[in-house]
Amino acid sequence: MWRHVTFGATLLLVACQSSQESQSKVPVPDSSAYPTRASYLEEWRQIADSLTVERQRVILQNLLSAAEREGWAGAVRYCHAAAETLTFYKGEKIYFQRVALRNRNPKNALADSLDEAAYKRFAETKSKESFIVEVGNGTLRYYRPIYIPMVQCLKCHGKPQDLDGPALAEIRKRYPKDKAVDFAQGDLRGMWKAEIRP
Ligand code: HEC
Repeated sequence: MWRHVTFGATLLLVACQSSQESQSKVPVPDSSAYPTRASYLEEWRQIADSLTVERQRVILQNLLSAAEREGWAGAVRYCHAAAETLTFYKGEKIYFQRVALRNRNPKNALADSLDEAAYKRFAETKSKESFIVEVGNGTLRYYRPIYIPMVQCLKCHGKPQDLDGPALAEIRKRYPKDKAVDFAQGDLRGMWKAEIRP
């Protein structure tokens, strides 16, 4: 119930606040309150869905308004500056970030075999559903795929004919090892990944 009542409002603020303030707002379900382990995991999956969907919405909104104000190269500068504050989240119980096989920022690389298996699963099944697994010691791992939803993404992630020239120049300057181009609409671009330590 909390999700519907308070979560939306809380997360709108998260984008502009220090992570310290927002951390305490992430709800932590009590495992003993759930009839089965599966229902407890499902609750965590839904919490991570809410967090990452909202975060993605804020990033997209800011990105598009930066592009409107300053053009696509300006939006690259925005993404670069906002990457660390908006795409990473480190709370007491949950940590999340975006990862990708063909990444722009090397910090967003797939980090282990679980990441690789999750990426392969989405690439093969094209599933839009997130999933959560237990990885030992009570730790959970969550993944949600990011497919390219709209043509605007291709200004910075598309094929040569789709890329915006000034944006590409800005990308090359800031990300000399960029691998995140040549995508088409609908392609798997990356994943939201969360590690949960209840
Ligand atoms: C204005 C250029 C621009 C547009 C438009 C854009 N991106 Fe990006 N994208 C970037 C930059 C710059 C980064 C690297 C951010 C960082 O430093 O972590 C990035 C990183 C990412 C990442 C993280 C993985 C990686 O490659 O490092 C994902 C996932 C992603 N973008 C998805 C999208 C999607 C989906 C869209 C469309 C909704 C989109 N992007 C539109 C510039 C853009």
